[in-house]
Amino acid sequence: MGKIIYPSQLKYLQSFGPETDPLILELEDFAEKNSVPILSKDSARLLEILISMTEPKRVLELGTAIAYSSIIIARNLKKKGILHTIEKSQDNIKLAKENISKAGLNDKIILMEGNAFDVMPRLDKKYDFIFLDADKRDYKRLFDYCLILLKKDGIIFVDNLLWKGYAASPRVPADQKSSTNDIREFNKIFTSQKSLMTTILPVGDGIGLGIKL
Ligand SMILES: C[S@@+](CC[C@H](N)C(=O)[O-])C[C@H]1O[C@@H](n2cnc3c(N)ncnc32)[C@H](O)[C@@H]1O
Repeated sequence: MGKIIYPSQLKYLQSFGPETDPLILELEDFAEKNSVPILSKDSARLLEILISMTEPKRVLELGTAIAYSSIIIARNLKKKGILHTIEKSQDNIKLAKENISKAGLNDKIILMEGNAFDVMPRLDKKYDFIFLDADKRDYKRLFDYCLILLKKDGIIFVDNLLWKGYAASPRVPADQKSSTNDIREFNKIFTSQKSLMTTILPVGDGIGLGIKL
């Protein structure tokens, strides 16, 4: 496991339009060397195309890490667009702040420090676009808050729904069983949600995409 599509197909697809922004390349390199889980390149591309297409004014991200995806979102927002991103790890918050400053995006990204379970109930204005990318065991409960905070016609984008291929595999290693079960359960809830039209795309590690009805 570990791959969703054949490596040769992925390599071929990634040969088109490689990223040229030096900061994004630096963050990808840092993430790989330091085992920081960030969006795969193809998922990041899909995310930025969706942001450009839908032109959201208010975006919420759950799980900032080093602000790789935050920067990708924020650099595609229109003039009035703003990103609120929530992160609980103090180590990641420090790195994210540095990277947001380096990207010159302090006016577009508001980093909310703390556990999303504490931060989300305090948010009272709804969002046009929500990106869920926190701990997999938290997905189910965070998704409930996402549904409350997502506007009608708003988009929800969720990473890791194929979970390195294990979600669809009969053979799951012992150390992946709990997270795989969390993702499998989440996928059932996500795709049967009456207030959303949803799909799960075999992009990157599996992207859940939904629109609020
Ligand atoms: C997969 S990483 C996010 C990657 C980032 N979205 C990207 O693609 O560049 C998940 C991050 O979510 C944070 N996190 C996990 N659960 C959280 C929670 N309940 N509240 C706030 N942050 C959380 C972790 O500390 C970690 O930094």
